Amino acid sequence: MHKVAVIGGDGIGPEIIESGKTVLEAAGEKFGFDIEWTEFDIGAERYLATGELLTEEDLKELEKYKAIYFGAIGDDRVKPGILEKGILLNLRFYFDQYINLRPIRMLAGVETPLAHKRPEDINFVVVRENTEDFYVGIGSRLKGREKKTLEVKRDIYSVKFGLDVETDADELAYQIGVITREGASRVIFYAFDMAQGRKKKVTSVDKANVLSDVYGLWRDVFLETAEKYPGTAHEFTFVDAITMWFVKNPEWFDVVVTPNMFGDIITDLGAMIQGGLGLAPGGNINPDGTSMFEPIHGSAPKYKGQNVANPLATIWAGSMLLEHLGEKEAADKVLQGIEASIREKMVTKDMGGSASTSGVGDWIASWIQTS
Ligand code: IPM
Ligand code: MN
Repeated sequence: MHKVAVIGGDGIGPEIIESGKTVLEAAGEKFGFDIEWTEFDIGAERYLATGELLTEEDLKELEKYKAIYFGAIGDDRVKPGILEKGILLNLRFYFDQYINLRPIRMLAGVETPLAHKRPEDINFVVVRENTEDFYVGIGSRLKGREKKTLEVKRDIYSVKFGLDVETDADELAYQIGVITREGASRVIFYAFDMAQGRKKKVTSVDKANVLSDVYGLWRDVFLETAEKYPGTAHEFTFVDAITMWFVKNPEWFDVVVTPNMFGDIITDLGAMIQGGLGLAPGGNINPDGTSMFEPIHGSAPKYKGQNVANPLATIWAGSMLLEHLGEKEAADKVLQGIEASIREKMVTKDMGGSASTSGVGDWIASWIQTS
């Protein structure tokens, strides 16, 4: 028996999670285990009704689980940043989910926007650091003392800010990125360990040519770690360059390890080359604590309640959840079920099919039971 916490969240979150639960239950039946789901009412509705995002009580309760199955959060009625920071980032930080694991893999039958690339060319994994860097929340916005009309003069034009009204000309803002030796070490070790079961190549992402303090430390740790894995190839890339290589030569990559913010950016690009956000799963992992599995797309409020959202990223995240719980065979089967649904065109509209959210889940569930 596996106990799993469930946070459906906002928008399409609850629907895609239902579809995922159907599939995981079918896998459980096939491979002889039960899953007990415990739903948590966390998200915009509750926030709007009570002002609560994540309470001490929620966290103490969630702490009892090894895995959380997470849908999506985000709602037009709430100012951007409140739910993201108050719920998603808060969970990642509180449970110290220091690895954000994002497979970039083009499944058979999926279309990629990259010409001439086949499934064997796009199959790598991004290990994103998930608790540090510019996500630590250290920063400030400072008001200046004086109000005046701010004018920026250039040779051929001048721009007035504040539309001729007086503005706070001296206002400034800063945000600090933090890399710790421990934080970098644990995620880089994880990446090298992961490469042992793969093609034994680890690529580091940074911007050490400009932000040389934070990413200089990151590089030092990467090199020291690489020395402990002499049979594993390692290389550095700068973040700007890797966006180019993801498009031109995705087949070069095996395990890509990256600081938090660059990881955020390059995994959206990764999602596109593997066939779209509807197909991109992620795991927020603390190997010794509570981990959380989610599609990397958002809550798509526009499609809420319509049963049209693509559940494949969530089902794939469910496969990662099962693998995390030690159910490797069941996890593989779920992924094969996803591939079968793509082969048989039992997919939602965004992938050229006409199936519904629940229809895809039900189809994969019965495929698992009968194959
Ligand atoms: C992601 C998201 C989050 C992030 C947001 C919603 C806080 O973009 O999971 O990639 O920046 O990590
Ligand atoms: Mn993101």
